[in-house]
Amino acid sequence: MELSKATQYKIQGYIMAAIFFLLIYICSSALCAGQEMFESHTANYSHKSLAAVPRNLSLMTTVLDISFNNIAAMETSDFNYTLDLKVLNASHNQMKYLDSNIFRFDSELEYLDLSYNQLRNISGTFPNNLHHLDISFNDFQTMSVCRGFGNMLLLEYLGLGASQIVKNDFEGIAHLHLKEVFIELNPLLDYENGSLLSLNTKKLTLDLGLLSNKDRYNVLLDAVNTTKILDLSHIYEWNIHTDPEKYIFDIVKNSKVTDLTMRHVNVDWKMVVLALQYIWHSSVEILNFYDFSLKGKIEQTSFDYSNTSVKVFNLQGVNVGVFQFDQSVVYRVFSNMNIENLTLNFANLLFMVCPLNFSTFQNIDFSNNALTDDLFQDCSTLINLKCLKLRQNKLEKISKVSIMTKNMPSLEYLDVSHNLLTYDEEDCHWSESIAKLNLASNSLTESIFKCLPINIEILILKNNDITHVPRDVAHLDGLVELNLSFNRLADIPDCSNLRSLSLLSVEANQILYPSFESIESCSRVKHISAGQNPFQCNCELRRFIKQEREAPGRLIGWPEAYVCKYPDNVRGTMLKDFDLPEITCNVFILIPVIILPIIFFIVLIIGLCKYLDAPWFLKMIWQYTKTKQRTRTSKQGYQSLQKDLDFHAFISYSEHDASWVKNIFLPSIERSNECIRICQHERNFVPGKSIIENIINCIDKSYKSIFILSPNFVQSEWCHYELYFAHHKLYTENNDNLILILLEPIPQYLIPSKYYKLKTLMAQRTYLEWPVEKSKHSLFWANLRAAISVDLTHAVSENTCSVSSENSCSASSKNSCSTESETTRLLS
Ligand SMILES: *[C@@H]1O[C@H](CO)[C@@H](O)[C@H](O)[C@H]1NC(C)=O
Ligand SMILES: *[C@@H]1O[C@H](CO)[C@@H](O)[C@H](O)[C@H]1NC(C)=O
Repeated sequence: MELSKATQYKIQGYIMAAIFFLLIYICSSALCAGQEMFESHTANYSHKSLAAVPRNLSLMTTVLDISFNNIAAMETSDFNYTLDLKVLNASHNQMKYLDSNIFRFDSELEYLDLSYNQLRNISGTFPNNLHHLDISFNDFQTMSVCRGFGNMLLLEYLGLGASQIVKNDFEGIAHLHLKEVFIELNPLLDYENGSLLSLNTKKLTLDLGLLSNKDRYNVLLDAVNTTKILDLSHIYEWNIHTDPEKYIFDIVKNSKVTDLTMRHVNVDWKMVVLALQYIWHSSVEILNFYDFSLKGKIEQTSFDYSNTSVKVFNLQGVNVGVFQFDQSVVYRVFSNMNIENLTLNFANLLFMVCPLNFSTFQNIDFSNNALTDDLFQDCSTLINLKCLKLRQNKLEKISKVSIMTKNMPSLEYLDVSHNLLTYDEEDCHWSESIAKLNLASNSLTESIFKCLPINIEILILKNNDITHVPRDVAHLDGLVELNLSFNRLADIPDCSNLRSLSLLSVEANQILYPSFESIESCSRVKHISAGQNPFQCNCELRRFIKQEREAPGRLIGWPEAYVCKYPDNVRGTMLKDFDLPEITCNVFILIPVIILPIIFFIVLIIGLCKYLDAPWFLKMIWQYTKTKQRTRTSKQGYQSLQKDLDFHAFISYSEHDASWVKNIFLPSIERSNECIRICQHERNFVPGKSIIENIINCIDKSYKSIFILSPNFVQSEWCHYELYFAHHKLYTENNDNLILILLEPIPQYLIPSKYYKLKTLMAQRTYLEWPVEKSKHSLFWANLRAAISVDLTHAVSENTCSVSSENSCSASSKNSCSTESETTRLLS
């Protein structure tokens, strides 16, 4: 019974723990889901091998890409909660059937791509808000599905594809104002004439694919009458038709197309010229060919350019399957076109013939070919040409290019970027009308500034080998924009001669820091782009940064593109965040900041010396420590001496100074903690003996002799001691035992000349001066005590020195006044 109860508790515990962890899991996953909800509104599940629409879609998903998966069906439940869905891309899946009612809650849905599935049927209705619906490249048998699209009044793009097109199919959407209809006619087997005509669209794009010739003919006949903008892909084999000329004529005759694009064209040269000739006299104004393959024999053919509406001819991507032919035959067809704009890109052009008559060309784009310096040399018929683009060719000499432009009096813009251009200082002959010149990505150096059109306003020299801009560029007065990015500049150019400059680009050069002069000279330039340089973040750079801080918006790309490269410790820091303290950079601040404290300290020291007498304190402290040290080191030496000593010091003074000695000296020196015994003649002299005897006796019994010097003493008392000094050997050998205290200053003249010894002592300043200031007194006494301090323990009992006064010089105090305590007291 007991055991089972324990098991019960155990199980309960497990359950509780499980619930606890489950709760934590739910909470955390809810939190995560919440995070995801706020993070992404675009869900990209493209190329994920999904078999179904993902379940865990955020409710706020607005763009869902599930293209390139294996989804076979979409369910109502997939989109019940994605109420904000605007874009759904479900192309390239395996759906066979769709009930469009599954989107009934997605009233926001605007873009729906169901192309490249296997749809055969769609039921229900799509949301009315759809702008873009693509159901092309599916397996629809008929276009009847379109009949249900009439409610989508906002529809702009419709992509379709079916095997059968009948008139009824498009009647249901005839009222829509479509912008573009794309019809993939690849599997088409059956076309009812006139069906396309019901479509109301600005642009019709048809993929003709492998359409049979009969259907192709019928579709094209209708297509050219349906819209003004027609885009046709996959145009092959026009010449298969029994009567190609009639075929083309029929189609072009009724055409209302103004803008014709043909992609993936693969036809005979003869057919091309024929078709072109008909188109030339049709309503077409803009003619585009993309991906053009020529076959058949290329021969000279006459071409009637008169009465055309064509203004723009654009041919991009030519593949010639013919090996031997006269290229000028082909080129002549183009060069004599009486149109505004001619573009021949990726056409392998090796040269171009000069138009025979004054040409109407205003814009020519021969980019991405193999043109050389011989292009349009001595060609003076391009008098209307305004813009010539020769990007990515094989031009080598800039002087030849300049000569080419000489006879183009209207040329405003020349693009010869991405060529192999160099300049060897030959003469240049630019057209004076050139205002914009693009020389990017060539091999030009700074010498190019000697070869520029005189009225140039915009000059692009990006990605060349320019190291600096020469100073004498006076003829660039009109230059408004100068692009020198991706060169090898070490500094921003001097702008003083570029008076009209308003945009300067020096991005990605080798500018460590723009010099002061350049910054100043370019101060009128409105915008400068100088990012991606290897900035050295130092004092010089501060001026540059400061300018942007003061007048923000001038530097293009600020702040992201402006990053410190050097020194290493700030590498990667944005210039915006870089700062050096003003003081480290500015000498005028540096001087005061360093000099002022020095002056202050000097003044302080002078003040201390003058008013607080610091040197005196220092001298005294030094003396004190020296004495202490000496006492300590020479303790042993005095041992023998001490045996005969009764006093620490003998004191001698003039009667005039007696009051000082009795009232100040003795109390101060004896009242200290140390047992100091002073031999004073009034107290300790032995009666009966002569003064001199007494003195000598006293001196002999004292460790030191203290003389209180004052003018009085010098004049009246000194003589007493001269005798002693004369005899006393110790004194003559060693001054150590003598302590002179200068109570009052003694002028030299007051010392009688016979006392040469005193004079010497005075001159050597080997005396202690009695300080007038009270603050100095304690140090004075300490010093003095240190000088006379010696262990006289054996004499204590005799106590001849009658220290019977209030100061208790008991034996027990032998160590109470240690050196340390003395020092601490002094210093505190
Ligand atoms: C699907 O359609 C969206 C919306 O236009 C588009 O951005 C995306 O690139 C498409 N995805 C693929 C894989 O084509
Ligand atoms: C010719 O090209 C220029 C420059 O690209 C363009 O502005 C102009 O509109 C074009 N002319 C026509 C008729 O499209």
